[in-house]
Amino acid sequence: MAKLWGGRFTKETNKLVEEFTASITFDQKLALEDVEGSLAHVQMLGECNIIPMEDVEKIKAGLLEIQQKIHNNTIEYSVQHEDIHMNIEKLLIDMIGPVGGKLHTGRSRNDQVATDMHLYAKRKTEMLISLVQDVQVAILNQAKDNVDTIIPGYTHLQRAQPVSFAHHLMAYFWMFQRDKERFQDSLKRVNWLPLGAGALAGTTFPIDRERVAELLGFETVYPNSMDAVSDRDFIVELLSIASLLMTHISRLSEELVIWSSQEFQFIELDDSFCTGSSIMPQKKNPDVPELLRAKTGRVYGNLIGLLTVLKGLPLAYNKDMQEDKEGMFDTVETLEGSLKLLAPMINTMTVKKEKMRSAVNQDFSNATDIADYLVTKGIAFRDAHEIIGKIVLYAIGKKKFLLDLTLDEYKEFSMFFEEDIFKVLSPEQVVGARKSYGGTAPSQVAEQIKLAEEYLINEYPAIS
Ligand code: ARG
Repeated sequence: MAKLWGGRFTKETNKLVEEFTASITFDQKLALEDVEGSLAHVQMLGECNIIPMEDVEKIKAGLLEIQQKIHNNTIEYSVQHEDIHMNIEKLLIDMIGPVGGKLHTGRSRNDQVATDMHLYAKRKTEMLISLVQDVQVAILNQAKDNVDTIIPGYTHLQRAQPVSFAHHLMAYFWMFQRDKERFQDSLKRVNWLPLGAGALAGTTFPIDRERVAELLGFETVYPNSMDAVSDRDFIVELLSIASLLMTHISRLSEELVIWSSQEFQFIELDDSFCTGSSIMPQKKNPDVPELLRAKTGRVYGNLIGLLTVLKGLPLAYNKDMQEDKEGMFDTVETLEGSLKLLAPMINTMTVKKEKMRSAVNQDFSNATDIADYLVTKGIAFRDAHEIIGKIVLYAIGKKKFLLDLTLDEYKEFSMFFEEDIFKVLSPEQVVGARKSYGGTAPSQVAEQIKLAEEYLINEYPAIS
């Protein structure tokens, strides 16, 4: 079958080469973006009198028909036409005749593919922002129900100080908020239009790049044609924001796995989000958070893969750049699937408030508060720390917790202890006392939740 670029060649392409160099098996995901870019390009060609308006109308009609076929999934792509751009151009020419060949005037596949990728990145970034927001809303809902739920807070995965479960969950709200803001900010750069750069040096035709930008909804055009066709920074940026987002998803997933273990029993994931074992009838496995944790690996891999592809490339376009696609599609699809599961999984999980509360009775996580108590009686914190350390050691020896010791026992360690020490020690008191801004006291957590809601409403008024 004749190639669109076949004029200069005297031999057929080797079949293996054809397969090896083709991208159509994966870049067909860009079909709609490709047609969209072509519609804007040909409109501009007509407006600038580069090709006659009647040809423009024929080409547009053909492209719209192709668009329909893409929606209906009725196009048969061919490896012989290498990529999505040439498959669509060939289809157009077959449909409307040689006039279809005018579409590629003043354009190269190099600025075309870059434009398609920008359109794709823009669309998917917007989708991901809204999916992250769904997760934030799920977190917020659980947080609202758990402002007064007390859970052990950990450092080094050792009990540290009790905290509100809402406070713990809301930490993730803010991580996701930053991820979303990073995506939002990256759109500034995705919004540069490469089309009109030609192969690398611009074009001899009197094109109007601003007009194409306007038609496609870009904010501006690349000021340098060589940069326009060589830049894949916007993809690297998307993949790195995605990687950090996956890191957050993975950390949260790890907590869900731990919390739903027999040892913790802090939460139970809904049956519809778990799977069983083929041999052990009692098992209910948290496969979803486990896989979310694991899929982080492929998202990191895609980022490192693309950085490696780009690092040694001279300007301008190189075929290496075709390798930007599969990793990007995979990352976007992995994140889409992950976020779509995470939100309902959080929404439907059962929080075992009693288990959490009783866990806090079985530890020394109120020790800092006794130290703080002695500080209010005039003792230096460092000395108080030493005294409480000795009390903890004594209590461990007696197989008791701090609330179980008597006032007389406390007085053995410092004469400053009074009856009011027992008020200071209850987990509710310990949590409630941390009223500093951003602290875990329920009053502060309620403020934090209010602020979080304001963030969401200001960014996305529709959800109010
Ligand atoms: N399929 C190519 C890619 O994804 C399109 C650009 C091809 N340009 C070229 N001069 N071979 O990068």
